[in-house]
Amino acid sequence: MTESAFPGLSQAVSTLRASEIRELLKLISRPEIISFAGGIPDPALFPLDAIGASYQRVLANPALAGEAFQYSISEGYPPLRDWIVGYLKTHGIETGPEQVLITSGAQQALDFLGRALINPGDRVVMSSPSYLGAIQVFGTYQPTFLSVPMDDEGVLLDALEAAFKQKPKFFYLTPDFCNPAGITTSLARRKAILDLAHRYDVAILEDSPYEELRYENARIPSFAALELQALAAPGSDGKRLVIYVGSLSKVLTPALRIGWVCADPALINKLVLVKQASDLHCSTINQMVACDIASSSHASQVAKLRKAYKERRDVMLETLERCLPKEVRYTRPDGGMFIWLEFPDSINGTELLAEAVKDIQVAFVPGSAFYATDVKRNTARLSFSLGEPARIREGIERLSALLQNKLRANRAA
Ligand SMILES: Cc1ncc(COP(=O)(O)O)c(C=O)c1O
Repeated sequence: MTESAFPGLSQAVSTLRASEIRELLKLISRPEIISFAGGIPDPALFPLDAIGASYQRVLANPALAGEAFQYSISEGYPPLRDWIVGYLKTHGIETGPEQVLITSGAQQALDFLGRALINPGDRVVMSSPSYLGAIQVFGTYQPTFLSVPMDDEGVLLDALEAAFKQKPKFFYLTPDFCNPAGITTSLARRKAILDLAHRYDVAILEDSPYEELRYENARIPSFAALELQALAAPGSDGKRLVIYVGSLSKVLTPALRIGWVCADPALINKLVLVKQASDLHCSTINQMVACDIASSSHASQVAKLRKAYKERRDVMLETLERCLPKEVRYTRPDGGMFIWLEFPDSINGTELLAEAVKDIQVAFVPGSAFYATDVKRNTARLSFSLGEPARIREGIERLSALLQNKLRANRAA
């Protein structure tokens, strides 16, 4: 059935389209399907005991419970803001609470930043591919997207500079183990990008929800940390262009809906007003619980996740190495949840998904969903965050065999 349009929809909303792959992905909840589609945390790893104990603690104390269920300030629950400030400090980001706004997940931070920064027709630069939720939410503010392709070290500098010459509002990227490609921007590339941003006066929107999920190699300083370091050095231009977005969704649980923006206080002040106008504040009880668990068990939770997800990543990589046809390229992420496949041009990711679900009961997300412009259809995103290692191995073996057959048939045609 075709959807009829409700009369009078705004231009911004009428351009929103349900994804062509949504129908296919509905099938993946069937138990026989081995799904690499959902880029979500494994619920078996949620710290449910700590969450339960924390809700109980608040409810058992009438004064605390009164505060927890009352209206509150838009900036966020002060102890949680303080925890975020302390956490950022351990990552080289020296900041204060006035530079932090708590949002309903990183997604709301992206929405508010779109609202605060984009006028229709403004240029916005996106790493290509990029997080689908960012493309969607910025799209509602009707920018002109400029896409910059990536290699194994991040976006290509020549293409980024060409985009910066067109005076964009900001450059969006996920520097660590990006969703969807699993690529981490190298330190050298980060420094070069930061230099370019300061040369052309372009804000960098650094979206970093996967930062803690690192399985090998040392942490690379964030753009925010590098910029603050540079600002403290003599001869700096004094501009604070990096907007850092963080989240507790991947470490604790997405349902608490806790994210944050850390940026120049002049921007934070405006974002606080946007928050007030939008939903007043985040759920206070959830902020209290998040603060409790983050304060007591962030580090142990991170250690638990790293161990579990590393094992799954390793199994997926080993199986890809052993079985995937050599013509198919794949990324080797140092962390996060995603591996990116690039097929020869003859293979279309959406068509492959339809065949994979029907014939071998394997699902993934076709890569075409992750491009703001210049769509590459011969791509796919695999997530290894859910599922037993044995099922991951089985799914990749089946997918590799399907690809082997398709490539052989293409060669024979
Ligand atoms: C790159 C990226 N940014 C932001 C988000 C949204 O996260 P949150 O749950 O904090 O809103 C996601 C979720 O998958 C993501 O992958």
